[in-house]
Amino acid sequence: MTIPGKGRADSLRAAKHPLFNDRKLGLGTFSTNLSGGCAISKIDGVLKADWPSTLRLAQLGDEMDFEALVPVGRWKGFGGETNFNSEGFESFSWASAISASTQRAGVFATTHVPTIHPIFAAKMGTTIDHVSNGRYVMNIVTGWYKPEIEMFGRPQLGHEDRYKLAEEWLHIVKRLWTEEDEFDHEGRFFKINGGWCRPHPVHKPYPPIMNAGGSDTGRHFAAKYADVAFVTFNTRDPDQMRQQIASYRDLARKEYGREIKVWANAYIVQGETEKEARDFYKHYVHDLGDWKAATNLLDTLGLNAQTLPLEALEPLKEHFIAGWGGVPLIGTKEQVVDGLQMMSNIGLDGTLLSWARYIGGMEEFQRVTYPLVVQAGLR
Ligand SMILES: Cc1cc2nc3c(=O)[nH]c(=O)nc-3n(C[C@H](O)[C@H](O)[C@H](O)COP(=O)(O)O)c2cc1C
Repeated sequence: MTIPGKGRADSLRAAKHPLFNDRKLGLGTFSTNLSGGCAISKIDGVLKADWPSTLRLAQLGDEMDFEALVPVGRWKGFGGETNFNSEGFESFSWASAISASTQRAGVFATTHVPTIHPIFAAKMGTTIDHVSNGRYVMNIVTGWYKPEIEMFGRPQLGHEDRYKLAEEWLHIVKRLWTEEDEFDHEGRFFKINGGWCRPHPVHKPYPPIMNAGGSDTGRHFAAKYADVAFVTFNTRDPDQMRQQIASYRDLARKEYGREIKVWANAYIVQGETEKEARDFYKHYVHDLGDWKAATNLLDTLGLNAQTLPLEALEPLKEHFIAGWGGVPLIGTKEQVVDGLQMMSNIGLDGTLLSWARYIGGMEEFQRVTYPLVVQAGLR
């Protein structure tokens, strides 16, 4: 199996994969398959895990030609008063139905490698790629939320072993997606007898791969294997964010001879005036935020992931409540566009977006803000 080098990004662009177009700043949605979406708040109007709601958001993204509809792989909620993210749709079956209901957007599915067998993942991914006519992207997650991994009846692996498992897992998925003949595989984690998966995906040799590992090992995994990496910023200072993005790209270029796309996530709080936006932020985050659920989330993230140490996560807590730790875009429509411009200027290829009242916020974005994003030359 060859490791794809620089040519991989070019071939994805040539094949017109939605994630690999020439727009200055790609856009996407995040966690539209789960209750609460990205906002850990008791405010009315947060996302419900029902089909009409998640479908509405996917169709809004499709109408704006969003490059990425990214669901979250989640099996249990985070407690607190809201039991944030406790209800939700499984991401592969979600992606298949969303693919059938959209025309243009890139559709992701998120696989927790310890919970999904590679033969199953390859077959489901192939199915989604055919339903969407080549718009599928596979997000590989090694699993950091211990209670949900343990729900499957097996202990959670140590951090380094999770990535070793992911490496072997991905190797098998790629073989299933590309090889003509049956193959056997015997590794540390998997034994495959006469491995076979047909048809192969629409996108040749295989669909794009996403990873959001933030630890050193995770960043190496993404730099070596992913076509798009997501950064979780440990700062909100644009210059420091720029450095974090550049160092990701450098790692991929220097160590693995690869070009990768680098994306992040952001949340939008828009008002007629900046004050109105800031007042709403205060209301849903400080007055009505579910701080207990956020504490549970960050405690387990700090213990089991290595993206950021606990002490670095604490100051980010309000950003997790406001929008899954994203970059804040708060203010008037012009200020939101300036924020998106800043994200492009610091070197990001794209960003996922979320709103506290997801549907209302995204409808307003389409009506009021998106034309300005286009006017600014970002799309
Ligand atoms: C955009 C984005 C999407 C993610 N999606 C998921 C997900 O669906 N499920 C999950 O358990 N973790 C998800 N993560 C977490 C990361 O993939 C990663 O597992 C985590 O940061 C821990 O990895 P590390 O120990 O290498 O830092 C996501 C992170 C980001 C930034």
